Amino acid sequence: MSYKNWKIEKDDEDICWLHLDVAGSSTNILRSDVLDELDDVLNDLAQSLPAGIIFISDKSNGFIAGADIKEFTKVTTHEQAIEMLNRGHTVMNKIESLPCTTVAAIDGYCLGGGMELALACTYRVMCDNKSTRVGLPEVKLGIHPGYGGTVRSIQKAGPMAAMNAMLSGRLLQGRAAKRMGLVDDLVPRRQLKRAARYFVINRPRHRQLPLKDRIMNHRLVRPFIAKQMRKQVAKKAARQHYPAPYKLIDLWQSHMDNPRRMLEKEIESVASLFTDDTATNLVRVFFLQEELKTQGNKKDFKPAHIHVIGGGVMGGDIAAWCALRGFRVTVQDQKAEALAGTMKRSMHMFKKKFKKDRRSIREAMDRLIPDTTGMGIAHADLIIEAIFEDKDVKQSLYKEIEPHMKAGSILATNTSSIPLEELSTCLEQPERLVGIHFFNPVALMPLVEIVRGENTSDDTMKKSLAFGRQIDKLPLPVKSSPGFLVNRILMPYLMEAVEMVSEGIAPEMVDKAALQFGMPMGPIELADTVGLDVCKSVATILSAGDTLSLPKKMQSMVENKKLGKKTGEGFYKWSKGRPIKNKNASYGNMQELQDRMIMRLLNETTACKREKVVEGDDLIDAGIIFGTGFAPFRGGPLHYIYAQGAADLSSRLNQLKDRYGERFEADKEWAKLNTTN
Ligand code: NAI
Repeated sequence: MSYKNWKIEKDDEDICWLHLDVAGSSTNILRSDVLDELDDVLNDLAQSLPAGIIFISDKSNGFIAGADIKEFTKVTTHEQAIEMLNRGHTVMNKIESLPCTTVAAIDGYCLGGGMELALACTYRVMCDNKSTRVGLPEVKLGIHPGYGGTVRSIQKAGPMAAMNAMLSGRLLQGRAAKRMGLVDDLVPRRQLKRAARYFVINRPRHRQLPLKDRIMNHRLVRPFIAKQMRKQVAKKAARQHYPAPYKLIDLWQSHMDNPRRMLEKEIESVASLFTDDTATNLVRVFFLQEELKTQGNKKDFKPAHIHVIGGGVMGGDIAAWCALRGFRVTVQDQKAEALAGTMKRSMHMFKKKFKKDRRSIREAMDRLIPDTTGMGIAHADLIIEAIFEDKDVKQSLYKEIEPHMKAGSILATNTSSIPLEELSTCLEQPERLVGIHFFNPVALMPLVEIVRGENTSDDTMKKSLAFGRQIDKLPLPVKSSPGFLVNRILMPYLMEAVEMVSEGIAPEMVDKAALQFGMPMGPIELADTVGLDVCKSVATILSAGDTLSLPKKMQSMVENKKLGKKTGEGFYKWSKGRPIKNKNASYGNMQELQDRMIMRLLNETTACKREKVVEGDDLIDAGIIFGTGFAPFRGGPLHYIYAQGAADLSSRLNQLKDRYGERFEADKEWAKLNTTN
């Protein structure tokens, strides 16, 4: 019998090697047809049972990456979710109850549904290379494992380790997975098949869960542990915004005594999450991320040498990040101490990233070359300028370096606010100037805005987008207009927060209102972290148009050198890198605070849509989620407007305008949104 996705190969020792090579997909995913076929394969094999079955991937890029997330978007009713989950359970249970030994031979990613399949096998062996990882990351999509993975991972790794892995969604490398008991052996790739065969033939005894784990699984102990787990989760995610981790804890607490029952309840629990807004929106965010990835094609440009000018906060980290991603980088600054600082910070970044892998740290350091005289300019395929935010200073640098630049090389500026058309007037070849706008801190922020000026050529744009992917960032093409997309959207929201503090409302309350909406950090804490001088200069540029006015409070704090975290005092006093907050602060109408900030953000979003700062609703939402951390479970600001109803929200804007003034004037775009809604 031949199958579309599975290939059966029997060897001399009566072992069946079950190869997975999903048709029409570059990665192995558990699409429903793949699962249906596996069901048939297992029925066939049960007719004349082999000595053992070894699951192995024929794709070079991994074992199984998980379920097919595209199929998730088609699940719109509870019944459909139950049907999909039942299908998975039937197959996994069948694997588990086969009378012969089953082994998953894992090389490359083994995630989600793929991991659940591996867990249903008698044994799991895993390659010990860096590209092989296992994990149950379902919470990131607003659900939890739903093909029996909750029960089986806890049975194998114990409640603490398994719940920790599922609640965080973290991916695990071999050593951690073996230590936990999620996999049985760790071997070099060349020995993977031999190790899998060993397990079939010898059937070694399974490790028993340590006593500590068995106690924690006990009916009387679980409520205490579950309470602790909920407390930990609550520090990161509120139940009303992210229900999945809480449902997982409830499931374990209520049913771990009876694994059969827990399997049934797992289906109900995941099905109830599936059709919930959070999961729908997080799946949307997953696809938005995929869309950003397609903006640049890595093949279009791979610079052999990058030269960064400016070794300050941004330039230093940009240079380090590029070296970390494998590029040869020269970094130039007019001050030797700035370069010394860059090298020191880079070492810190590399150590954090590569941990004890000294070789990788040394190689990254070797790729990063301090350059006091600008020797790198003539060799670079890409020059990234990150010097002071001053048009004249930038232009005089451009005039100096352009004659030395290699033919065909690109000049990118990290400016936060100066329009490219203004910067490029001094250039002989303005078409080679582009904005590559990184966010602070460079190592943590996934987005880069790729800014097209009026003169930027298509080729420069295409190569810059490709470069964004080369350094593993999410590149967003944006039009050169003040503040581009992210700062433009963020500033009215931040300024409204500052305005409220000027009115006497405690900063703690303003931040709390934003956190309650689902923002990752309150705006006042964010302003203090970024630096009030930086916020002021971006806001000043934006206020040159008519979009924004600068609160007086901001002005006076900058004059008094209260710049935030870096000076030890801003809106908050700072100690050991943390703001000191008054726990007793209170305010009556939190909804009003939230509305004032969020409505300004939404209003600016609609203006950007009208001006086509970014093409298309999805890219606007993607940029704002990945550039500002805008509550991912809400699916992005435009999606939020559509979901809440544009008419209701614009009438709320009108109320706010009556109360607080012109800055709440609804953008013209709302009228259109009202009609398309
Ligand atoms: P910074 O003041 O920390 O660093 C600027 C560095 O450039 C200094 O070390 C200075 O010595 C050097 N420099 C100035 N003129 C030079 C020249 N002609 N040749 C060589 N080196 C020169 O500034 P920061 O914050 O790194 O900002 C740099 C650029 O990045 C600005 O355009 C800023 O708007 C932009 N940006 C800043 C962000 C932030 O959070 N700080 C975020 C995103 C963009």
